[in-house]
Amino acid sequence: MAQIAPSILSSDFSKLGEEVLDITAKGADLVHVDVMDGMFVPNISYGAPVMKSLNRLETAPYDVHLMVDRPERYVADFMTDKTAYITVHQEACIHLDRTIHQIKELGAKAGVALNPGTPVVMLEDVLEIVDLILIMSVNPGFGGQKFIPRALDKIRRLDQMRRENGFHYLIEVDGGVNAQNAAALREAGTDILVAGSAVFKAEDRAEVMRLIKGE
Ligand code: DX5
Ligand code: ZN
Repeated sequence: MAQIAPSILSSDFSKLGEEVLDITAKGADLVHVDVMDGMFVPNISYGAPVMKSLNRLETAPYDVHLMVDRPERYVADFMTDKTAYITVHQEACIHLDRTIHQIKELGAKAGVALNPGTPVVMLEDVLEIVDLILIMSVNPGFGGQKFIPRALDKIRRLDQMRRENGFHYLIEVDGGVNAQNAAALREAGTDILVAGSAVFKAEDRAEVMRLIKGE
């Protein structure tokens, strides 16, 4: 069984609080918060104030995905008592090792994301210290895109590397995940599956989340 982190990018922003409470009640393990700056990705979503306004609600912990250039400037803004993970992109960090330590010192688990065009080898020197690796299975920027199957190979490699070397990172996948491809992703070694449209547009959100988790 894996965990599910529904992406609120696909939720109805006019009732964001209700949406987050709804997925929490129906089985979400984490709330995936996609932050886009219009520079690193060609889209702008929402920032820390929006996330912080959810803080008053009894929701699942936050899984923050920063699709932002030089994210070290903002990581502290996303630290709240509900923040479990803060993930930055390898492609957006000049001093990745420093940024990972910065996140950990704030008290969150540190994640690093890889775009579809970035090979796993780019993470070789941080595998030992990182808590989470997020494999993008779409080019980031938008919800509702088609899953890129090569992500499966990357996940298998990362799973093999952690077993061979005793690394402790979790593996997360994000983009085009649905009830149909979730089983293959779990078998490849995925621990956390992000799903936006598959969950929020579903008629029965609880059922879709169960299927994606493999319950
Ligand atoms: C893409 C975001 C994803 C996105 C996933 O840039 O990082 O989290 O919201 O949406 P779906 O599941 O619809 O592909
Ligand atoms: Zn995301």
